[in-house]
Amino acid sequence: MLAVAVLAAGKGTRMKSALPKVLQPLVGATLVERVLASTVNLQPERRLLIVGHQAERVEQQLSAIGGLEFVRQQPQNGTGHAVQQLLPVMDGFEGELLVLNGDVPLLRSETIESLVSAHRDSGADVTLLTASLADPTGYGRVFADGEGKVRGIVEHRDCSDKQRSNNLTNAGIYCFNWRALAEVLPKLSTDNDQGEFYLTDTVAMLPLAMHVEVADPEEVNGINNRKQLAQCEAVLQKRLRDHWMAEGVTFVDPNSCTLSEDCQFGRDVVIEPQTHLRGICRIGDNCRLGPGSLLEDAELGNNVTVLHSVVREATVGNGVAIGPFAHLRPAADVGDGCRIGNFVEVKMSQLGAGTKVNHLSYVGDASLGENVNVGAGTITANYDGVRKHRTVIGDGSKTGANSVLVAPVTLGAKVTVGAGSTITKDVPDGALAIGRARQLSKEGWADRPV
Ligand code: UD1
Ligand code: CA
Repeated sequence: MLAVAVLAAGKGTRMKSALPKVLQPLVGATLVERVLASTVNLQPERRLLIVGHQAERVEQQLSAIGGLEFVRQQPQNGTGHAVQQLLPVMDGFEGELLVLNGDVPLLRSETIESLVSAHRDSGADVTLLTASLADPTGYGRVFADGEGKVRGIVEHRDCSDKQRSNNLTNAGIYCFNWRALAEVLPKLSTDNDQGEFYLTDTVAMLPLAMHVEVADPEEVNGINNRKQLAQCEAVLQKRLRDHWMAEGVTFVDPNSCTLSEDCQFGRDVVIEPQTHLRGICRIGDNCRLGPGSLLEDAELGNNVTVLHSVVREATVGNGVAIGPFAHLRPAADVGDGCRIGNFVEVKMSQLGAGTKVNHLSYVGDASLGENVNVGAGTITANYDGVRKHRTVIGDGSKTGANSVLVAPVTLGAKVTVGAGSTITKDVPDGALAIGRARQLSKEGWADRPV
């Protein structure tokens, strides 16, 4: 039997945040969600989460994950105190307890699996994950012999100078024999610099403690402050970009771009510098994104270009050119071959195939047919101050520059709107609509008597 316990009760003082540390987001998921996800493959019999600081908020955030047992730790008196809270809850449990710090989010599930199997093979009372770090500052130091046997762990702040020079560090991931741990847990003391109960002290109290050193030390990066959060973000981003480069995506300047884990790319996509994809994005073949673009929850067909633009919660067909400086907002649905040009904003609107909105326009709450040409500066006046109204434009219509279409209004097919018009009434198919004052030219004005 295997139980997993994640320590998530701490405040995270060093983050200096109103948010509990384990709820800090990292590439779209919270730290604790990432830690929990890394244990899914193990299919543990029990999954326990130790919560304390802002416990309700943490429980609420994780309420959608099934099969989690929340265990309260009040007050938060150290990692050993946190695991002591399991004693009544796990009374009579037989098997291993895998303990994970809630702030170590980059672990690969394979690493945890090999820790558990090494533990089972050796028959140790505890097996912990270690890493040799170039800069071990802040981590507990692990004192072990050449055969992997661990004598004990000393926290950075409790180390002598000589002990500090040991760079074998404790990753905060442990596989315990639960019965052996349960016997020593009540014997912990607070005799250390922080005056807390340390889980790490159990290691020296158990008859046989072993360690397994992780191959890639990046995996065990712990997050105590914003700098470490940024370092982990960089590691995850690099993993994502490397993955997609291996799948055939070109990054012109990889380090300047970020992705979410829910991106999908077709073949021969080129991502130009300073381009960011968030949420769920589906990008077709031969698209060119950026430079300088943000896509969030966007679905793009094939052969789409997005230049210095923002595309959010929008769907775009094949062969569409977007930008520079365009903004597709939620529920923009742009058909094949459309052109969305400079300083154009589209919101909650459908654009039929081949429709062009090239310059300086706002298209909101509108349905445009196919091959519509929206003249420069055309605006759908969709809001009367209380409610939003729809504008409908039929196939092949053209609006002149600086037209205002006051919704609700329907323009038929092949309509032409004269430049500078304010259209407040429906226009039938094939008509020319002009809604502006007639021009008056007074001859001889310059030479008039004064
Ligand atoms: C801990 C280890 C250290 C290790 C490092 C790895 C101890 C004493 N030290 O140090 O050896 O190198 O992790 O990242 O364990 N927590 C609780 N209740 C508490 C205190 C903490 O649930 O009362 C949780 C925190 O929310 C966090 C985790 O335990 O998720 C680790 O706590 P933290 O204070 O960050 O320990 P470190 O000082 O990093
Ligand atoms: Ca930590």
